[in-house]
Amino acid sequence: MTVAINVTQVSKHFRSDKAALSDVSLTVNKGEMVALIGASGSGKSTLLRVIAGLLKTDKASSAKVDVLGKTLQASGQLAKDVRQQRAQVGFIFQQFNLVNRLSVLLNTLMGSLGRIPKWRGLLGLFYTADKHLAMQALQRVGMEHTATQRASTLSGGQQQRVAIARALVQKPSIVLADEPIASLDPESARKVMDALADLNKEGMTVLVSLHQVDYAIRYCKRTVALKDGVVVYDGPSSELTPEKLDKLYGATSASEMYAFPSNDRSTSVSTDNTVQPLAANA
Ligand SMILES: Nc1ncnc2c1ncn2[C@@H]1O[C@H](COP(=O)(O)OP(=O)(O)OP(=O)(O)O)[C@@H](O)[C@H]1O
Ligand SMILES: [Mg+2]
Repeated sequence: MTVAINVTQVSKHFRSDKAALSDVSLTVNKGEMVALIGASGSGKSTLLRVIAGLLKTDKASSAKVDVLGKTLQASGQLAKDVRQQRAQVGFIFQQFNLVNRLSVLLNTLMGSLGRIPKWRGLLGLFYTADKHLAMQALQRVGMEHTATQRASTLSGGQQQRVAIARALVQKPSIVLADEPIASLDPESARKVMDALADLNKEGMTVLVSLHQVDYAIRYCKRTVALKDGVVVYDGPSSELTPEKLDKLYGATSASEMYAFPSNDRSTSVSTDNTVQPLAANA
């Protein structure tokens, strides 16, 4: 199996006394869709940003992040070709980061900025081929009908799907999504997770951080759980029973990790990586 992401002994301190990440090691194979769960402050965003090369690790000699077989950063130093390497990694933020006053199409086209010469991007010179690609990406997430609308006119869920289209235009091999459904209603959350699952079915590697463990179980075969910057679980999502979560996080914290009430938690991830339907009231 080919390795997409390899994180070795990564620690990150923002302040000297408290580690946001503590000796984290993690391997994600190409084609996997992996959930990263954990309470607020457990280090999910920090880890995703480290993997994307947006943040440097501590300078420990052993710390290393490899992406698609190339070292992206080691011992707290970014590789010289980090910009090219970053182009292979799409990043989806919790807060969409769309430019409100620009159209959906232009926002989507922004995804190609990593690939085209800077001056073309600055001048807003996108070729027909770029636009075609952007429209295709919008179609993939069911948002093509909004292409000419201002981003500010879309709902949160719609904006997040445009953010996914923008990441697609970048043509990445890996998508890192940082709590892409945190601020969405269940219906929008489902559409966003479906869009990510579709990409994964076509071979894209997806690492997605989630607050709610039920989405991890429904959409990802494997879950990595963080607690206070430490990996406390890395294995099949199906084994993350309420009892197991209680053990990992304590009953009070664990009970806050569900989006749906307990009688609606029956759906589990299937073994062939297909997405299970959400319950009718989800
Ligand atoms: N830029 C920063 N400067 C200082 N401390 C930071 C910074 N970013 C994160 N931290 C700290 O690092 C720890 C991990 O934060 P991180 O944002 O990675 O957690 P998270 O799991 O993504 O939380 P959430 O679910 O709230 O998004 C927290 O204690 C946080 O306060
Ligand atoms: Mg976060």
